[in-house]
Parts: sequence; structure tokens; C-alpha cells
Amino acid sequence: MQEPIIEIKDLVVRFGTRTVLDGINLTIFKGESLAILGKSGCGKSTLLRHIIGLSTPTRGKILIKGKDITTVNEEEKITILKKIGMLFQSSALFNSMTVGDNVALPLREHTELEERIINIMVNMKLESVGLSGFSNLRPAQLSGGMKKRAALARALAMDPEILFCDEPSAGLDPVVAAGIDNLILNLKKAFKMTIVAVTHELASVEIIADRIAMMHDGKILMTGTIDELKESAHPVMRQFFNREPDDEEVDKEKFLTTLTYEG
Ligand SMILES: Nc1ncnc2c1ncn2[C@@H]1O[C@H](COP(=O)(O)OP(=O)(O)O)[C@@H](O)[C@H]1O
Ligand SMILES: [Mg+2]
Repeated sequence: MQEPIIEIKDLVVRFGTRTVLDGINLTIFKGESLAILGKSGCGKSTLLRHIIGLSTPTRGKILIKGKDITTVNEEEKITILKKIGMLFQSSALFNSMTVGDNVALPLREHTELEERIINIMVNMKLESVGLSGFSNLRPAQLSGGMKKRAALARALAMDPEILFCDEPSAGLDPVVAAGIDNLILNLKKAFKMTIVAVTHELASVEIIADRIAMMHDGKILMTGTIDELKESAHPVMRQFFNREPDDEEVDKEKFLTTLTYEG
């Protein structure tokens, strides 16, 4: 029997009159790696922000290990969040601090560990993401892929049970992107975490995910393995897997510029 670790029930999020999440129902199981796949702008980051309690929904429940993050008090929320790591799309590293201090931040904030122990732990985390020896650099001195690795080390600082990743490999070149995706997969195996990654990239899903939830128009359209989704006759699944463009996404000016440059 699979044990649920997160249960999202009838989650609705409106911004003004605009409904971004329109009744999301989704169960995430302990130890799985779930990819939430959907087009840019479909509400993936909004969903993650609500799961980690950064925003309060219009309606609905989000149970994390049985506790509703939308209604718990601040103290309980902090307890829940200590078990959660978040890799933000922008990496969200503090540029004024060294890489090592960025990774140490959650440990300094949430534990009473001695500085000596914190240093050992920081070095272990940096080692596990392939960044040992980079502790004293500033984020600005790192490449895009290395910044992601540093942000991942920080997300892992507290040995989370659940790791959320927002577009972990977006904006990186394909080889570096695959490196990050593989790293996440290996860390998942090593630390036995539950992984929830939101992405619009199929290549990423193919590496990371045991199971996929396809998001569209603020709803979860279908969940299943990549093969199950590929076999679906649903037009959204067809469009995604066949990489068909949206009509409205053809940007006329960009198109004309391309024509000019390519002669
Ligand atoms: N705080 C906010 N206020 C108003 N609109 C928002 C807010 N956050 C997100 N949105 C809108 O919600 C939609 C979904 O955004 P987002 O969750 O970032 O999509 P995705 O991560 O899938 O690309 C977008 O149209 C975005 O403009
Ligand atoms: Mg996003």
C-alpha cells in the first residue's frame, strides 16, 4: 500500500476575478518522484507556493503528513517546513553571502548546532551536489548550472523528507540540464526523499519522474506514468507529446525577425 504524504483537496486559487487553480485534487505518495507537467502560465509555481504555505488559497485543503498547511498556526507550519526543501526556479541564493553561508543559513536558523558541525554539514551537502571546494565563492561567481547545484545543496541542508523543485533545469543548456535532473534523481535514491518537480519540459520529466500529473487550465487533467500519458488520446496530451504549438503562441514579430536573420 502506498502511503500518502501530501493530499491536495479541491484547491482553488483566484487572483481578483481570475481563477488560476480551479479545483486541484492530487495525492502524492511517500518516496515517489512526481512531475507536475504543464505549459508556462498554467499555475505550476502558484501550486507549489501554496503547498509550501507561502500563500493562502481561496478554498481547499493541503494536507502534509495529515496536517493542513492552509490552517495550521505559525509554529506548526515551521515544524512542517523543516521537513521540506525547496529549489526555487530563480535559485534564490543570497548574492551578498558565500555559497557556504547560503547552505548554512537554514541550519543556523533552525538548529542549535555548533558552527564546527554546521561547517561539516555544509561541506557534506556541497560534496553531494558536486560543489566541494566552492564554499567560499559568491553565487555571482558560479555558472547557471553551479548556481542550481548550490541552491539544491541549500534545499537539502535540513535533510528534508520532501523536496520541491520549480523548473529545476529550465534555462540551462541541455547537457547541464540533464546533469541537474540526474543529480536530483540520484539524491532522491540516496536520501529516500519524496520529490515533487514542476516543469514544462518533457526531457526533464523523462529523467526525474516515476509518475506525472498533467496540469491544464488550473486542473489536473490526468495522472499516470509517462507511457500512460503518451498513450492518451486527450488533445492536451497529444499536443504536449507531439510538441504541437499553440496558435496564440506564434509570435509574429519574432517569426519575422527569424526570417530576416536567416535570410
Ligand atoms: N500573485 C499573483 N497575482 C496575480 N496573478 C498571479 C499571481 N501569481 C501568479 N499569477 C498568475 O497566475 C498564472 C499562473 O502563474 P504561474 O503559477 O507562475 O504559472 P507557471 O509556473 O505554470 O508558469 C499566471 O497567469 C500569473 O500571471
Ligand atoms: Mg513557474
